[in-house]
Amino acid sequence: MKYVLIILALLTVLTVGFVGLRGQTSRQPPVMVFNDLVDQPKYKNQGESAFFADGRQMRLPPAGAVAWGRTPDKPDPGNLIDDADYYGLKVIPLPVDAALLQRGQRVFNTYCAVCHGGFGTGNGVATNYGMSAPANYHTDRLRQVTDGYLYQVITEGKGLMGAYGPSIKPPDRWAAVAYVRALQRAGNAKIDDVPQNLRGELEKQP
Ligand code: HEC
Repeated sequence: MKYVLIILALLTVLTVGFVGLRGQTSRQPPVMVFNDLVDQPKYKNQGESAFFADGRQMRLPPAGAVAWGRTPDKPDPGNLIDDADYYGLKVIPLPVDAALLQRGQRVFNTYCAVCHGGFGTGNGVATNYGMSAPANYHTDRLRQVTDGYLYQVITEGKGLMGAYGPSIKPPDRWAAVAYVRALQRAGNAKIDDVPQNLRGELEKQP
């Protein structure tokens, strides 16, 4: 019985020693049993380096480095759409044609319609599952914002909406902008938007 008590006491001391004292600050290096990955030499932001001649840990990209999504000679028109060049643009920097709109429709239906709904009224299927109030595009304010603003909302998100910049490449973001514009136009169409020869058909509709 005596031994049991001694062993229990030892176990208590050990347990408290290893577990119980966590959260206290100390200038000593922590006692680690297996420290192979936790504690390793590494460079951190803004740190000093004894290795590099300029004394800085943070390095500039090597000469000729190419950012993700670009190419040095930009042979692919998709890669020409460089954020830095176009972020401040007020209008879509690509030819707006049927191909761009079709591409935009695909992007929109893939990424946006779940929340904003197929027509952009903000009634996507996610609203049935607790997504609160995605914007309705058919408001005067959103009709008047620039294309560049819509691009920015897609890239960075806004309020409750997350950023889609990491998932959608710049040309596809512009395509989505074009499609949002098409939805807005369709939602606010006047009879003058319909070709003369089709107006009769439309006026027959109830
Ligand atoms: C997960 C749901 C969700 C998805 C997916 C989503 N949005 Fe949104 N979006 C929202 C919500 C919620 C708001 C309202 C944000 C706020 O004002 O807090 C919003 C707002 C907006 C606005 C209005 C911004 C303003 O100034 O009021 C635009 C434009 C927009 N989204 C475009 C898009 C486009 C384009 C996509 C697809 C690339 C997209 N959204 C994908 C939820 C979503």
